[in-house]
Order: sequence, then C-alpha cells, then structure tokens
Amino acid sequence: MKLWQGRFHKQLDEAADAYNSSITFDKRMYREDITGSMAHAAMLGAQGIISREDSDKIIDGLNGILAEIDSGELEIDLSAEDIHTFIEGELTARIGDAGKRLHTARSRNDQVALDIRLHLRSSCDAIIEKLSRLIVVLSKMAKEYAGAVMPGYTHLQRAQPITFGHWLNAYGCMLMRDVNRIEDARARMNYSPLGCGALAGTTYPIDRHMTAAQLGMDGCCHNSLDGVSDRDFCIELASALSLVMVHLSRFSEEIILYTSWEFKFIELSDAFSTGSSIMPQKKNPDIAELTRGKSGRVIGDLVTLLTVMKGIPLAYNKDMQEDKEAIFDAVDTVTMCLDAFTPMIETMSPIPENMRKAAAGGFINATDCADYLTGVKGLPFRDAYKITGELVARCIELGVTLETLPVEEYKALCDKFDEGVYAAIDLDRCVSERRSYGGPAPEQVQETAQSLLAQAEMRLSSAK
Ligand code: ARG
Repeated sequence: MKLWQGRFHKQLDEAADAYNSSITFDKRMYREDITGSMAHAAMLGAQGIISREDSDKIIDGLNGILAEIDSGELEIDLSAEDIHTFIEGELTARIGDAGKRLHTARSRNDQVALDIRLHLRSSCDAIIEKLSRLIVVLSKMAKEYAGAVMPGYTHLQRAQPITFGHWLNAYGCMLMRDVNRIEDARARMNYSPLGCGALAGTTYPIDRHMTAAQLGMDGCCHNSLDGVSDRDFCIELASALSLVMVHLSRFSEEIILYTSWEFKFIELSDAFSTGSSIMPQKKNPDIAELTRGKSGRVIGDLVTLLTVMKGIPLAYNKDMQEDKEAIFDAVDTVTMCLDAFTPMIETMSPIPENMRKAAAGGFINATDCADYLTGVKGLPFRDAYKITGELVARCIELGVTLETLPVEEYKALCDKFDEGVYAAIDLDRCVSERRSYGGPAPEQVQETAQSLLAQAEMRLSSAK
C-alpha cells in the first residue's frame, strides 16, 4: 500500500515500483531519518501543533525502532518505497494515530534533503579522521627520513636532489588541503532544510530554528525552494573526494614506480602485495593500482551528480533520487581506499641506499655545480650553465659522475675550478643547503612534517 493511495485507482505496476523504489540504497540513512523525525516531533509538540502526549509517543516509538534496527532485531523491509515510508509505517503500526501525526508540516522533500545532509555530515567526519591518520603516518615517516637523499624528478628525469621525507611531505600537504576542503564542504552542508515542506514552506506555526539547533546544525536554509532542491553539498563533497582520489592516485603511481626493480626505493610489506598465478617471482602493488583505478569511479560519481542536477527545474524532481547512489559510492570508495592505503604506507620499507645510488647517478648536482661557478667564482649563471653542460657531456663520454671526474678535467673546461667544487656538489650538502622555506633541507622537512603532524593530531583528538 502506497502513501499516496487516496488519489489512485490502480496499484503501481511492478516494474515501475521496482524502478521507483530507493530503499535498497537509502536504508543506510535510517538513523538520520529517525533523529530528524524526533526533532520534528519535539518541535510540533513544543509549538502546540500536535499534543505533547502524541509528541512523546512518537519520540518513544522512534527510539524503540532505532534501537531495534541497530541491534538487528528489526529488519528493514525492502518492499517499502523508501526509508522514510518504512519508518513512518513501522511507527504507525506500533503507536497508532500518533504515528500518523508525525508528518504534519513536513514533506518527504525536506525530509530527504535533511537526511542526506545529516548522513554526509557524519561521512565527512569519518573521512577527515581517516585522512588525518594517513597524514600522521606520512609525517612521522617524513621526520624519520628527513635526511634520506633521493633524486627529485621533472619529466620523470632525474632533476635535483631532495629527500624521501620531502617527497612524503608533498603528499601530506595535498591531503591536508583535502581535509580543509572537506571541512569547508561540511560547514556549508550543515544547514537545515527541515520545514521547507514540499517546496513552499507551511502554514503551521513551526519553529525551524528549534529543529536545526536540536540537530546540531548551524542554521536554516533561507529559501524553501532552494532548501528542498539544493544538492550542492553532494557535489561539493564529491568534488573534494575526487581530489582526494586524484592525490591518492598520483601517490599510487609513484609507489608503483618506486617499488619496481628499476627503482627499488621502496619495498611493500607482503601483507599489502599480491603474487602472480603464473610468475613465481612476482610481487605486485595491487593495492596502489586499485587505488589509481578507483579514482575513476569517484570522478565518475562527481560527473553523475553534476549531470543529474544541471537541467532540473525548481524544486524537487525525482531525478534527484539519483544523488544518493553516486555520493554514497564516492564516500564508500574513498573509505575503502583509505582503509587499505594507510596501513600499506605504514608498513612499507624505504630503501635509502637505493635512493642514494640513483641520486648519485643522474647528475642531479649539475645545478649546484653551476651555482658554485656563479656564487663562489663570480661567473654569470648562463656561462656557468653552459660550462656545466659540457662537463656533464664529458662525464658521459668517460662513464663517470661529476663527483668522480678528475679536477684536471674541470680545469680544462674552466680555469676557475679548483678542489672546492667537490664539496659544492656533495649530495648531502646540495640538499642541506636548499633551506629556502618549503625546501628539502632536513630542518625544513622536519618543520613541515611537524606542522602537518600537529594539524592531523588536532583533528584526531577532537574526533574522540
Ligand atoms: N526517495 C526519494 C528521494 O530519494 C524521497 C523523496 C520523495 N519525494 C517525492 N516527492 N517523491 O529523493
């Protein structure tokens, strides 16, 4: 039996019913639906719109339903149209007429808009917590490897020396911006549409501010049409989550490269690697690859939401039911990724010897050699650049590095060179001298890691 049965003479067609129903995916909002209804019932009672007695009965009944769904005693009936219908029906079956009064001055349109906001608000908190945990892992590791020299790349060609800690901090910074973005999205989401009704508010003397406050929201949506039909908050969150996935995907790409035999800067724990069914030697970074792959899903969810919303007239249209699967999938995917990704990072073993070997091989101190000619010997940078280029070519010819090229060779190209050049191009020195703010010098890396750690730990302690 449908809620709207009065006007209709025929039962809804079976295929149409299945098509129309949303309970399989909105049942996860049962808690928010119930707490929203409790706030609404309390307000109706306080405003004298329904009796105190009925209001109390409704709240008691809803409390019972919540406890029973939580414990598994009450199963959500998947033949109901949606979670709102199921809970209202269950309540009425338990408490009779009082249950039928709950929906006074309310529509499923403001109800569902409220439920999603409340539900996603918790999702934001949970994901912020998970991101913070990952940032803690990264920052602690960055502190430990603040002095581990490795090549930094541009165009995936060895470029200039950095440290492994510096590299980790780069991802820490990205993820901290993600945390900030989700916090921003959460702040705009935390306004109550309850009381916007179907689209045009209500003639009952409701108190929207009371329900908003009871639900821990920062205020009420200011326009009833907008309140019921706004899904910006889903899109904003999907956008922030897409960026999380883009960051994790780039991170994964580098993990995949760096665990390959060609680099071997990192070894993943066996617990986070997989084997091959045919090649006995294989150890594959599947978790990182899946993360890179799953970024496509979340970006797809964002595109779904934007596309669903772009053409619909005010106010509520059933198209908007499509919001839930997309945003829930984005939330679930990011959650799953972080649950596997963070321990993968935590248990991986960096191999600083290999990083240093790679750093020594790629002429990544060539800029420092040119800087030596400029800074110490007073040559214009462009001349120094050209001479250093010729030095590199000479090294390649001789099969040596700048560190092992004899001083006579240096002098042959420029008589300003002396033994001092070796200290200037020493890799540790090249890194430790790069102490410009945000640079790879170990004390800079320590400082950034410490700041990221503090920001992440603050989030974790306020989550408790
Ligand atoms: N299941 C619906 C949704 O998710 C609930 C709102 C229904 N409102 C309506 N006017 N049919 O959007």
